[in-house]
Amino acid sequence: MDKTLRVGIAGLGHVGADVFRLLHEHADLLSDRTHRRIVVTAVSARDKTKDRGIDLSSVTWHDDPAAMAGDDNVDLIVELMGGAEGAAFDLVKKALEAGKSVVTANKALVALRAPDLLSILENGKGAIAYEAAVAGGVPVIKGLREGLTGNEVRAVYGILNGTCNYILSEMTATGRDFEDVLKEAQAKGYAEADPSFDVDGIDTGHKTAILAGIAFGCVPDFKSVSIEGIRGITPLDIQFADELGFRIKLLGIARQTEDGIAQSVEPCLVPKNTPVANVEGPLNAVYVDGDYVEKVLFVGAGAGGRPTASAVVADIVDMACDQYLPLMGTYKPAKLKPADMGARIGSYYLRLNVLDKPGVIADVSAILRDNRVSLETVLQRGRDPGQPVQVILTTHESTENAIKAVTQQIAALDAAVEPPHVMRIEGF
Ligand code: NAP
Ligand code: HSE
Repeated sequence: MDKTLRVGIAGLGHVGADVFRLLHEHADLLSDRTHRRIVVTAVSARDKTKDRGIDLSSVTWHDDPAAMAGDDNVDLIVELMGGAEGAAFDLVKKALEAGKSVVTANKALVALRAPDLLSILENGKGAIAYEAAVAGGVPVIKGLREGLTGNEVRAVYGILNGTCNYILSEMTATGRDFEDVLKEAQAKGYAEADPSFDVDGIDTGHKTAILAGIAFGCVPDFKSVSIEGIRGITPLDIQFADELGFRIKLLGIARQTEDGIAQSVEPCLVPKNTPVANVEGPLNAVYVDGDYVEKVLFVGAGAGGRPTASAVVADIVDMACDQYLPLMGTYKPAKLKPADMGARIGSYYLRLNVLDKPGVIADVSAILRDNRVSLETVLQRGRDPGQPVQVILTTHESTENAIKAVTQQIAALDAAVEPPHVMRIEGF
């Protein structure tokens, strides 16, 4: 049996406590698989007095997580605090500079600080692994960076946030309201410390930037991800989407185009008969489209302590066996060239709230005609002369710029009660 691997865990929240439990419960199994004992020797969190349901009596407690980088009784750092700045970055930097490798579940750190991490890695001896940072327990980083490495990737896309998928699924199934379901997702340990990261699409943006980085051999470029979250989705949208044969899903999409890499996060209408439409609750689903393999779909638990601990421990096992790859899967990650998002082609759903009076649909049709946008469906529910009514339009393929122009011009009509609510329709 080789030398014991001594692990320091910083962060004992939903994920950290379950990583601690897993390493303890599966100690023998992991020892058989790595030919080493993997033992937690040190931990850090903010509140030493909190009962976390784990026995910390035999480990060293560090009030300052960064102190673990200098602890001679720790070989590997597991960072599970979160955040791209402050304690998490400080610890990771110090650990790598001290020649210790790092395992993290922190997507914000990888998406936003990749340039810093790459430069620290260039000069240090450690490595970083981050399987749990995208799609929780689903081994999509390994799938993309190892299993599909022979392919030129055309696109990577899917449901990347368990909290949002849980909220949209519950709202669809039960008609419950947004705030109520969000509280439940927080209690179940799916949501980020600040849940606006989830519902405003930022967490999906971080994951999309990471996947794009690996898929296209680039440094993640979060700033060029176009982001919209799910706060604007109403029960009416869910109901109309259902009538038209769709479900609403928050999708992260990174696609190679002739003009560069198009990266977006937005709620989309997805046909009900596609696999992604039927991925419910906190599950995630990620498609990778490669030139030799074609489409591969990864599905599984995208959030929650136990599934995420499973991914974190997979990285710890790799480190125990001295197996690691360059941060973005390539030795020379390039600068990402963003595509012009306005030139993107797609079909769209528009929900108009307009006054029910003669000539309004004629005005709307003229706007569509003038912008060369072709209609597929028009749906009006109810009739209330002179009062606001909801009118739903779906379009054939057109550019995003044309749809933006249509939206602005409809919003400026006297009969418009509010600006149209627009969503892309993704075919898969
Ligand atoms: P969490 O429940 O909020 O736990 C965070 C932990 O970090 C807590 O134990 C907290 O201490 C500790 N901490 C925070 N700031 C600290 C500081 N300055 N010094 C020392 N300790 C500090 O978060 P989580 O859900 O476990 O998520 C942890 C990481 O995993 C994040 O990067 C998150 O994005 C990622 N992740 C989470 C999931 C998920 O489903 N939850 C899935 C994939 C990835 P106290 O307990 O004392 O407050
Ligand atoms: N808050 C994240 C989610 C955790 O809901 O997907 C997993 O990354």
